[in-house]
Parts: sequence; C-alpha cells; structure tokens
Amino acid sequence: MKLNKLERYVVRHPARQWLQLQLEQPLLLGLFNHNLPAVEHALEIGCGFGQGITLLRKGFGAAAVTAVDLDEQMLHYCAARYAGKSWLQLTQADGSQLPFMDNRFDLVCDFAVFHHIPDWQRAVSEVFRVLKPGGAFVVEELYRAAICNPLSRRLFEHPQQNRFNHHQLHQCLRAAGFDIANSRHVWGLAGVTLAIKPAGTFQ
Ligand SMILES: C[S@@+](CC[C@H](N)C(=O)[O-])C[C@H]1O[C@@H](n2cnc3c(N)ncnc32)[C@H](O)[C@@H]1O
Repeated sequence: MKLNKLERYVVRHPARQWLQLQLEQPLLLGLFNHNLPAVEHALEIGCGFGQGITLLRKGFGAAAVTAVDLDEQMLHYCAARYAGKSWLQLTQADGSQLPFMDNRFDLVCDFAVFHHIPDWQRAVSEVFRVLKPGGAFVVEELYRAAICNPLSRRLFEHPQQNRFNHHQLHQCLRAAGFDIANSRHVWGLAGVTLAIKPAGTFQ
C-alpha cells in the first residue's frame, strides 16, 4: 500500500532522516554484535526516499545495492538522489512478488515496510527465497499496536487486517525457515530483528 500525503511528509522530513542516522542505524548495526557479514549484494524492499540505501552502502559496506518500491514516485526520487551511482539498481516491484532469482542476495532489509503489505507473510517467504544460504534479513517494523489504533487510523493509511506483533513476526520468520539471531522491541509498538537463512538451505 502506498503512503498517504502525511506519511510521505513524515518519512521525507529531515528529522526522520536524522533519527534514522543517529538512532536506527546504530540499533540495526548493533544486531550483529560487531560481526558484520561481508555484503556483496544487498536488497532493500520499500526504499522510500532512499535513506536505507545509504545505510546499506556505508553502514553495511554493500558492494552493490538493489532497491525496490511499489511507488514509482519514490523510485524517481531515489534515481535523482543517487544519480550516476553504478552500484545501485532501482526496480519497481511488490515486496510480496520479488522479480529476482533464488539465492541471490547476501542481505535483505525491510525498514518499516512490511506493515504496509497486505500479505506480509508471503513477503517473508519471498525474502527467504531470494537470500543466499547464510544470508541475513534485517527487519525494522511497526507493530499492530502502533498502526491499528484510532489516532494512527485517522492520520495514516495502513492495512488493518492481518497485522502482526513482535512474537507473530518471529513465528512467521521461523515458519519460513529463518533462525532469529537477535531482536529488540519498544513497548510492543516497534521492533528490530536479525533473522538468518541457515547455511546449507537452498531454495
Ligand atoms: C514507511 S515507508 C519506509 C521507507 C523507507 N524504507 C524508510 O525507512 O524511510 C514505506 C515504503 O514502502 C513502500 N511500499 C509499500 N508497500 C509496498 C510493497 N508491497 N512492496 C514494496 N514497497 C512497498 C512505500 O511506497 C514506501 O516507500
């Protein structure tokens, strides 16, 4: 589901980008306990205005980044922001139907996107499919309590059915075949998770 006007404004606001850099980035990198993997090729699902692309490139040291979004306007923005960067490929795609072959990426990221996807369980299976064995899935998500309440419903547009909490996200990740390596959550509203596709698991 595409963002409404207000969420677009919030996501693009310099304060949100400052938060991503100062707070979210150290939290996400910290999930690896100083054992960052070598990342040849990373995929970001739902790249929005592109801050996550910088995190993948500079924070995780990804040699190549593929970023997808459902919304062509987001991709146009990222194309302008990262003009001339040959390490970046931008593609319009739905996270629950990824147009990539199996076992392709070393790292896949969902930075606040799966709560927008009606069939998020299918998106989890898609991530498992496109990750290489041993690859990492980094998730930063907003949970049901944060998006299915009167205030959030009034301000933003999110699917209200089939949403999830921290525990249900982990259940789904495990059912897809992932191991949960590390995670944190804040009052059940939002959380970060590092899930690993076990080595030797081929799709
Ligand atoms: C809250 S924004 C987050 C953007 C960015 N990841 C960030 O952290 O700033 C959610 C993004 O997910 C995209 N999106 C929503 N549903 C999607 C889907 N089914 N597949 C791919 N992207 C989707 C939206 O267009 C939007 O850019």
